Amino acid sequence: MGKLDGKIALITGGSEGIGLGIAKRYVEEGAKIIIFARNQGNIDAALAELGDNALGFSGDATNLGDLDKLFAFIKAELGQLDIVVANAGMANGAPFLEMTEEQFDAHMNLNVKAVYFTLQKSVPLLRRPASLIIIGSTSGSMGLANTSVYGATKAAMRSLARNITVELASDGIRCNVLSPGFTRTPLLEELMSTPEGKKRFEDWVEHKVPMNRIADVEELAAGALFLGSSESSFVTGVELHVDGGMAQI
Ligand SMILES: NC(=O)c1ccc[n+]([C@@H]2O[C@H](COP(=O)([O-])OP(=O)(O)OC[C@H]3O[C@@H](n4cnc5c(N)ncnc54)[C@H](OP(=O)(O)O)[C@@H]3O)[C@@H](O)[C@H]2O)c1
Repeated sequence: MGKLDGKIALITGGSEGIGLGIAKRYVEEGAKIIIFARNQGNIDAALAELGDNALGFSGDATNLGDLDKLFAFIKAELGQLDIVVANAGMANGAPFLEMTEEQFDAHMNLNVKAVYFTLQKSVPLLRRPASLIIIGSTSGSMGLANTSVYGATKAAMRSLARNITVELASDGIRCNVLSPGFTRTPLLEELMSTPEGKKRFEDWVEHKVPMNRIADVEELAAGALFLGSSESSFVTGVELHVDGGMAQI
């Protein structure tokens, strides 16, 4: 028997990286899932791995019209949701003094606005008890070079989980943050793709991560399984760090 038998979950950004890792684990544990991302080719590749209990829908999470279409599709195809993982996010670091308005707005639009309205628009479809999971980051709790805007977006999501908890806990909806440390994904590979980026991350892993390594997506998926399942039935408003100790010391 799976820990998510009978559950239906939406995972934004479920076509790659941490979202795909969570999607795979949720399917293994008996859930039906829907993944949402922009690139149809990546969605199709993910669905081929995920099997018959997975659906895909393409759209841009920063576009509220696309979110409306997503939830109309979910209502028609699945009827309801038990778990929403707001995972789609971006990190395109730049020093504070070089940050442009375009980069600032892109981070705010995806990491804050899209998460906020994904969760808000999911509520009418939620079967209680329901679990909302926001993917945060260690960057929301600590200072690191080139993460001034990214860190601010993730700190905002920590606050959002507290406020959703105050407003929705009595209605049977839990909301928690799952905060990864450095995790092996296409996003991290991109950040490490230049010699300077690679050196910066290797230094951080050596000096700032007590466990001195990068996480695998399966380690984040285990946290998402806990927060999505009834194993965490009395847990709401928390931030669960899966970061090798990075933001805990
Ligand atoms: N990897 C890390 O070290 C790390 C550390 C801390 C926190 N995080 C957080 O973990 C989450 C996932 O990161 P990741 O490393 O797995 O990223 P990733 O490898 O870049 O994957 C991002 C996923 O989000 C989707 N996505 C991006 N923009 C989107 C948009 N506008 N609308 C819909 N979907 C969109 C992507 O698909 P499309 O491009 O096709 O849309 C992809 O499926 C993010 O919130 C990130 O901030 C990651």
